Amino acid sequence: MGRLRTYPMSTMKPIAFCAASLLSLSASAQFSNPLAIPPALDLDTFDLVVDEHVHEFYPGLLTPTYGASAEYLGPTLLIHKNDTARIRVHNDLAQITNMHWHGLHVPAEFDGGPPREIAPGDVWDVKYQVKNPAGTYWYHPHPHEFTAEQANMGIAGFIIVQDDEEAALDLPRTYGVDDFPIVVQDRRFLANGSFVFGPFGDSVLVNGTPRPYLECPAQVVRLRLLNGSNARIYPLGFEDDRPFAVIASDGGLLNAPVTMDRIPLSNGERAEILLDLTGMEGDSLLLMSFGSELPATVPGSSYILWESSALSGIDFPVLRIRVTTPTASPVTAVPATLGTAQPYDESLATNTRMKILSGTGMVGMGMFYINGQMFDLNVINDTIALGAMEVWTIENISNMAHPFHIHGGSFFVLDRNGAAPPAWERGAKDVVLVDAGESVRVIMRFDDYTTDGWPFMYHCHNLLHEDNMMMAQYIVVDPNTGSTEKHVRTGATVFPVPSDRSIAFEADFDIVAIEVSDPTGLAVRRTKGNGATKGSLDIGMLPAGPYILNLIGATGSVRVKFVRE
Ligand code: C2O
Ligand code: CU
Ligand code: CU
Repeated sequence: MGRLRTYPMSTMKPIAFCAASLLSLSASAQFSNPLAIPPALDLDTFDLVVDEHVHEFYPGLLTPTYGASAEYLGPTLLIHKNDTARIRVHNDLAQITNMHWHGLHVPAEFDGGPPREIAPGDVWDVKYQVKNPAGTYWYHPHPHEFTAEQANMGIAGFIIVQDDEEAALDLPRTYGVDDFPIVVQDRRFLANGSFVFGPFGDSVLVNGTPRPYLECPAQVVRLRLLNGSNARIYPLGFEDDRPFAVIASDGGLLNAPVTMDRIPLSNGERAEILLDLTGMEGDSLLLMSFGSELPATVPGSSYILWESSALSGIDFPVLRIRVTTPTASPVTAVPATLGTAQPYDESLATNTRMKILSGTGMVGMGMFYINGQMFDLNVINDTIALGAMEVWTIENISNMAHPFHIHGGSFFVLDRNGAAPPAWERGAKDVVLVDAGESVRVIMRFDDYTTDGWPFMYHCHNLLHEDNMMMAQYIVVDPNTGSTEKHVRTGATVFPVPSDRSIAFEADFDIVAIEVSDPTGLAVRRTKGNGATKGSLDIGMLPAGPYILNLIGATGSVRVKFVRE
């Protein structure tokens, strides 16, 4: 908060970008807030305290937020490959949460998907050895049906894995000096400062800073880009279309830099780029999102039938880079070779699976399915043999693009509609955007750990789709010893969704009380349960909209969403 500069009075409201003024000098000159850089922690044990806060994104406007040991977002965790990461996640929220280490190949027990719950006031002790190569990963909460809301409120942070191979390269790696974390999020603010929860926002935040500028030395600098938005997809590049070198994808270094002038980032995807600012001291340039270039089927386009947003379908600035004096020992060239990760050989695959993405709807509403199914906490969708190398074909027959994410490690893209993927997409990945009508094949190895009863997820990383059940789960079993699915969490169901009269619900415990609240948590109805596992509720008197049904048992409760039509 202390880093924010004072805005002139005229800009004190949240800014809905106006397309006509976006590229004018005066609009870009307003990028006058120094970019917040989350602190980088290199600790034996990390404590992440998830709590409610208030943050001043815009002067005079107080926004209720959640953060991880911060008012908004959380610290960057620095971890060395092969070291043991110890993380204590403290839940100081008034609701259940958990934490997921997106992209890391960790034992399922510590993966922090929906089966894991940290009750309010509880602490979850996480411990895993870091097996991924050097790269940019991230953490965010992943509770059943509430991932989008908690992430939207601000819980997320970077994980930077370091290793000896990367350290031997002449790359910028001084955090906050020539190596910068850049998470791009769009948010919508109400006049009273509160976030509006939805698929799109009309204010761009970078590391939580609106209209930010970043001072970069006049040399080769490294930007670790992350799309941390709910649903918007960003084709990033610079205002003058200058080329940059993509050096890493989701799961670490590419084998060689790829020169590009755009890097498309879908939700959850990362890219590390090198930008050569040599000789540019005193100059400045804008990092842009070229939304006008998105196909109609990709969220962030101006597709007329989807939720409207002032930023959709247009090109808008994300970050102003101001070039300053070079450092004492600058990196001045992009190395010609980088990592050594080899894509898996398809001939070694031991199994294949089809994952068909179907359904139709808007970006934040509608029903989308994986193989015709909705997510069910009680159902294991795939059982995979330990050590298997599998080819998954992800085919999208729905009406929009979905960023498909698999937990448990990284995969390689084999092909896109039968053609080799573009060079930037040939590194280790854990999110791949599959556009409507596309078919993408990926190859992944399920090694090191059986899931030991804690399933891994795969899902659409449009967070609203994910929470609306566009997700499935797999387990990894040792064929010699078998497995028990002991931590498959049971829960509750409600149907039909949506409904205009009454809903029926069922839990796997005796319901002693029922509470209905609106999405902000305000209770609108409370009744006693009948002590049975099922019942029904008249919702005819409720105004239309989404609600949360809290089924309370003797020893715990389960929250499920329903919609009054
Ligand atoms: Cu970024 Cu299932 O997660
Ligand atoms: Cu993940
Ligand atoms: Cu989706």
